[in-house]
Amino acid sequence: MSASIVLGVGGGIAAYKACELLRLFTESGHRVRVVPTASALRFVGAPTWAALSGQPVADDVWTDVHEVPHVRLGKQADLVVVAPTTTDLLAKAAHGLADDLLTNTLLTARCPVLLAPAMHTEMWEHPATVANVATLRSRGVRVIEPAVGRLTGADTGKGRLPDPAEIFAVAVRLLARGDAAPADLAGRRVVVTAGGTREPLDPVRFLGNRSSGKQGYAFARAAVARGARVTVVAANVDLADPAGVDLIRVGTTAELREATVKAAVDADAVVMAAAPADFRPATYAPGKIKKSDDGVAPTIELVTNPDIAAELGQRKRPEQVLVVFAAETGDAEANGRAKLARKRADLIVINEVGPDLVFGADTNTVTVIGADGSVSRLPEQAKEAVADAVWDLVVARLPGRS
Ligand SMILES: Cc1cc2nc3c(=O)[nH]c(=O)nc-3n(C[C@H](O)[C@H](O)[C@H](O)COP(=O)(O)O)c2cc1C
Repeated sequence: MSASIVLGVGGGIAAYKACELLRLFTESGHRVRVVPTASALRFVGAPTWAALSGQPVADDVWTDVHEVPHVRLGKQADLVVVAPTTTDLLAKAAHGLADDLLTNTLLTARCPVLLAPAMHTEMWEHPATVANVATLRSRGVRVIEPAVGRLTGADTGKGRLPDPAEIFAVAVRLLARGDAAPADLAGRRVVVTAGGTREPLDPVRFLGNRSSGKQGYAFARAAVARGARVTVVAANVDLADPAGVDLIRVGTTAELREATVKAAVDADAVVMAAAPADFRPATYAPGKIKKSDDGVAPTIELVTNPDIAAELGQRKRPEQVLVVFAAETGDAEANGRAKLARKRADLIVINEVGPDLVFGADTNTVTVIGADGSVSRLPEQAKEAVADAVWDLVVARLPGRS
């Protein structure tokens, strides 16, 4: 599907990264009208935007007035993305100012609006910015969290523009769900775990599993697109960081447990898509375990790891929705039902696994069983679509806000 996209560009140092985002949109067949601010044009000139988009470029409302662009662009768009969004643009958008083409477009748009802020940490954390972001989110605008990393100059911190490919991924989710793309997780805090834990045996070896983190990251992306504040606890995931999430990296099951239990305290929903190792070596050898001369292999004693899903089930508040996963071989549905009850979860996502099934793949075939007895057998589909289907079930179980 070819969509009509407005790509707003604010006057931040990350303006050059919007060129890559623009390429991703045009190469996917979308029509993109770039609307930079006057400050953005001091970083990247109009000829770059015009040549890359194949469309005229203006930052004010006085160009091509006969076409009334200050109203038309917003009304005709299927999606408005602003990357980078400056502190100044957040303030203008929150207060409804309209002193250039981009701010006018933000007021006339009736499609989903995705803002990707980038600024110094101090500006992001300033109470004025915090209030502006809250106002915009309460209106259904998707304001994604900046990434943590190198900022302008030598400093690092929160405020970096997420990877353009990851902003693109959120935009694609919004376009896929069309005009009606619901911001039905706006104002909600969710925790998603992803990947597989590794239990060290000695400095070079570990006991691990084949979970790639793709399904967990798909849950995170879908939740960002639906307006949630998302914390991802990622165990050994070797994929690009999803845009707009708070990412906590962990290695072992003990680390996954600690980070997840802490993040879950005030979460509205927790999705346990990670595969924690059920067992770990009883002892860690500080030096590499050597082959013995007589060829006798060592015996490795295992101990059972804490059951994170069960602990979350025990600790959860009545209004919190807990989603657990069952990677099963054999009688998957019966095993899944038993696990759902044992963990006191609200939903269990069951998939049959094997060396060629699920792990690392881009699609998944799952059955979702609810504690209320509901059963949803979903067809094979992209992991992003699986995530959206499960979020639909979560949203239906979240208490309404008065
Ligand atoms: C080198 C340089 C880098 C800047 N980077 C940012 C930035 O990353 N984020 C931001 O909010 N403002 C940044 N600013 C400040 C904005 O350019 C300034 O607030 C401007 O008024 C924003 O205009 P606009 O919101 O219309 O694009 C930067 C300024 C300079 C000179």
